[in-house]
Amino acid sequence: MRDAESPIRLSEYRPPDYLIDEIALVFSLEPQATIVAARSHVRRQADGVTPLVLDGKRLELQSVSIDGQPLTTEQYSVTPELLTIHAPPASFRLDVVTRINPAANTHLEGLYMSGGRFCTQCEAEGFRAITYSLDRPDVLARYAVRIEAAKEQYPTLLSNGNLVEHGGMENGRHFAVWVDPHPKPSYLFALVAGKFDAITDSFKTRSGREVLLGIHVDPGDAPRALYAMDALKRSMKWDEDVFGREYDLDLFNIVAVRDFNFGAMENKGLNIFNSSLILADADTATDADFEAIEAVVGHEYFHNWTGNRITCRDWFQLCLKEGLTVYREQEFSADQRSRATQRIKDVKRLRARQFAEDAGPLAHPVRPNQYQKIDNFYTATVYEKGGEVIRLLKRMIGADAFKRGMDLYFERRDGTASTVEDFIACFAETSGRDLSGFMRWYEQAGTPAVKARGVYDAEARTYHLTISQRVPATPGQPEKKPPPIALQIGLITQDGERLTTQLETESVAHEEHHVVLDQTQHTFRFSGVAKPPIPAIARGFSAPITIDDGLSVEERLAQMAHDPDPFTRWEAGQSIARAMMLGQTSTPAAALATALGRELDRAQEDSAFAALALRLPELSELILASDKPDPDRLYAAREALRREIATALRERLEPLARAKSETPFSASADAAGRRALKSAALDLLAALGAEQTDTFLAAYQNSTGMGETIAALEALGAAGSGEFQAALDEFYERWKANPLVIDKWFAVQAAAPREDAMARVEKLRSHPDFELRNPNRVRALAAAFAMRNPRAFHAADGSGYRFVARLAADIDAMNPALASRLLTPFESWRRFDSVRQGHAKAELERLAALPTLSKNAREMVERTLA
Ligand code: BES
Ligand code: ZN
Repeated sequence: MRDAESPIRLSEYRPPDYLIDEIALVFSLEPQATIVAARSHVRRQADGVTPLVLDGKRLELQSVSIDGQPLTTEQYSVTPELLTIHAPPASFRLDVVTRINPAANTHLEGLYMSGGRFCTQCEAEGFRAITYSLDRPDVLARYAVRIEAAKEQYPTLLSNGNLVEHGGMENGRHFAVWVDPHPKPSYLFALVAGKFDAITDSFKTRSGREVLLGIHVDPGDAPRALYAMDALKRSMKWDEDVFGREYDLDLFNIVAVRDFNFGAMENKGLNIFNSSLILADADTATDADFEAIEAVVGHEYFHNWTGNRITCRDWFQLCLKEGLTVYREQEFSADQRSRATQRIKDVKRLRARQFAEDAGPLAHPVRPNQYQKIDNFYTATVYEKGGEVIRLLKRMIGADAFKRGMDLYFERRDGTASTVEDFIACFAETSGRDLSGFMRWYEQAGTPAVKARGVYDAEARTYHLTISQRVPATPGQPEKKPPPIALQIGLITQDGERLTTQLETESVAHEEHHVVLDQTQHTFRFSGVAKPPIPAIARGFSAPITIDDGLSVEERLAQMAHDPDPFTRWEAGQSIARAMMLGQTSTPAAALATALGRELDRAQEDSAFAALALRLPELSELILASDKPDPDRLYAAREALRREIATALRERLEPLARAKSETPFSASADAAGRRALKSAALDLLAALGAEQTDTFLAAYQNSTGMGETIAALEALGAAGSGEFQAALDEFYERWKANPLVIDKWFAVQAAAPREDAMARVEKLRSHPDFELRNPNRVRALAAAFAMRNPRAFHAADGSGYRFVARLAADIDAMNPALASRLLTPFESWRRFDSVRQGHAKAELERLAALPTLSKNAREMVERTLA
C-alpha cells in the first residue's frame, strides 16, 4: 500500500496494466445493506503476467470469481481498500460482489442516502466505495446497470444512458435496467433511487433527434425546477450554435439532492445537483441564485463534450475539463445576459479566490504536478485560472484558429482520455504557432505582476510604453520564466478622445492594439500620438495578471468617464477607491462620489454596470493588497469612504433603495440589473449606520422577491441596526420549513460585519436547525463567516480562527472533503501580524496533532503551515 506521506506525481504516470471494456452492475438496494454485483470484461495491456490491483474504499467483499470459478484464498488478497488478484489470465470475466451501507455513509461519496433517497457521487474517487474497480479516468468501459429496490419507497430508479427495461419483482420490489452506449470512466457513473416529483420536457437536436428531459426533485418542489429546465434547453441550443456540439442520448436527467458536497456533477446523462442550484422561484431565490443556476446547469451540460466524451487521462489534467468548461459556461452566461457585466463578475471572482490562492501557501499550477488527495485540487486555480488560460489562448491565436482548434479537438480526441498537451496540440496545428511557451500558464503557479510606464514626446508625437512582467516565487517554484501575456491596449486623452495611433509592428493606425508580451520586458512604440495619452493596458482583463500602471487619480477619472471598455471603466473606479482606502492618495473622496454619481446618471442604460461600480472593493481585497493588513483599520477606512460617498449621493440613493419592487417578477438580466442597483444602493446607505434604519425596514417590508429581502436584511445587519434581530425572527418564522431559505438566514448573519458577529455564529452553531451533516448548512455558517466576514474571521483574539478550525475538526470525522474545504480561508494566515499569526498557527497545529485527522484535512493543514 502507498504510504500516507508519499504524494502522487504527474511524472510517474503509467498506463493501466489492465483495461475493462464492459461492466455490468446489479444493485440490490437496501439502506443499510446494499449488495453490488459487478461483472467486468477485463483485458491485459501490460506485457507479462502481472497482478490486477483494484481500488476499494470501506468495502466488504462477498465473493470474487474469474470466468465463473470462485477464487481460492491463495489467488487473491483483500482489504477494505484493495483487491489484488495475483496472476489473472490475459482476458477474462471478473465477478465481484460487495456489500455496502449507504445509510451510514456520511462522506457523501460513493452511494449514500439523502432525505431517504439513494444517490451517488463518484468524482473523483468515489466509485471505489461502491465496488472494487480500476477507479482511474483512463479506463473507459461501457456500463449496463440493473437496479432493484422496494417499489413503494423507491419508485424512481435512474442511472446513466438509456432505459432499456423495467418491471415488477416479488416482495414489492421492482427493477430498471439502464444501458449507456458511450464508454466512460468510473467517475461518471451515477445511480439514483427514491421518491421524486419530476418535470419533463423535450429538446429537438439540430439533426432532428428528440431528447426527453427530466428534472427530479423532492415532492412538492416541481414548480421550482422550471427555471433550471429552461436553462437546460438554452444550454443545449447554445452548445449547438456556438460550439457545434449536439447531445448524444435519448434522455437527459437531472436530480436535485439536499445533501451534496459540491455544486453539481456531470455524470453521463444523469447530472446530480445540489438542490440549491436547481430550485428557484421569485419568493425563495435571489438574482444571484438564478444566475448561478443558469451557469451551473450550463456547466454540467457542457461537460458532456468537455469532460465526458473527451475525458482526462489522469487527475493532473483536471483543468482540461474544468478550466475549459468554466470558460464555456462563462461564454454561455455572457451570451444569455450582458457580456460586459459577466466579464466584470468573472474577474471579481478570479481575484477574490484565485489571486488569494496564488499569493499564499496553497499556490499551485493550473496543472498541479503532485497531490496527496485530488479532492483538494478542485481549486480556484484549476477552475478560474484554468478558464482564463483558455480565454487567453483564444486572444493569442484569434477567434478563427481557436474555433478550428476546438473542432479539431472534438474530432480527434473524441472517445479518449486526453492530456493538456493533446489539447494544445490542436491549436498549435490550426494556428500554425509554436505554443510551447504557452504551456508555462499550465506549469507555473503565481500571478504575473505587470508594470507599465509610458513616456510621451509631444514634439515627435510618439509614446513609448515599457511593459515588464515578473512571476512571483511560489511553493516549490523559486524561479519562473515569462509566460506570454496578451495585452489589449487602448489610448484615450484626458478629455476622453480615443487616440488612433500606430505601433511599429502595425501597418495602419488603430484605436486598440492587440499585442503579446512574451519576454520579461518590452517597449511598445506608438507613433502618431496627437495628445498626451492615458493607456488602458489590459482592456477586458486580457490576461490573469496584476497591473501597476502608475496612473494618477485624475487619469483614472478620465478612464472612468470615457474609456470605451466597460471593464476598464469599472476597474478605474475600483482602483481609485482602493487607493483612497489604503491611504495612497490625497485626492478627496468627493471626486469619486462625483464620478459614481455619473454612473447613476447612466444607470438607465445599464443598471447592472452601475450596481457593480457602486460596490467598492471588498475588505478581503484590501487585505490582499496590504503588506501587514490590519483588518480593523482597513474596515474603518473602507467604511469612512463609503460614508462620504453615501452622504454625497444620499438624495439619489434613498429613492433607489426605497423603490417599490417590480411586478410581476421577471428573472431577466434587465430586471435583475435594476434590482442589483437597488441592492447596491442599500449596501452603500448601510455605511450611514442606524440613521438609515427606516430605509432598510421599508425595503424589507416592501420587497416582493427573496433578492430584495436579503439585500434589506444585509443592510440592516451591516448598519448595526437594532431592528436586525426582529427582522431575522420574522424571516425565520416565515421560512422555517424551507431549508434553502434557512441557509440564507444562517449566511446573512454569519456574514454581517457587526461587533456581535462572533457571538452570533456561536449561537447559530447550537441552533436546533444547524446540521453538521448537511454541507449547505455548514457552508451557510462557516464559509459565509470565514470568506465574507474577514474582520470577524481574522479577529485579533483568535476567536474566528478557533471557531472555524474546531468546526472543521468536528466535520472531518464524518466528511473529510467538506472539512478540508472549510480550511482554505487559513491560506492568508501569514500575511497578518504576529498575534494573529500565533492564533492561526496554534489552531492549525492543533488540527495537525489530531491522530484521527483525515488525509484530506491533513494535506491542507500541512501545506498551509509549510
Ligand atoms: N465535476 C465537478 C463536480 C466535482 C467537484 C466533483 C469537486 C468532484 C469534486 C463539476 O463539474 C463542477 O465543476 N461543479 C462545480 C460547479 C461549477 C459550476 C464550477 C461545483 O460543484 O462547485
Ligand atoms: Zn465542472
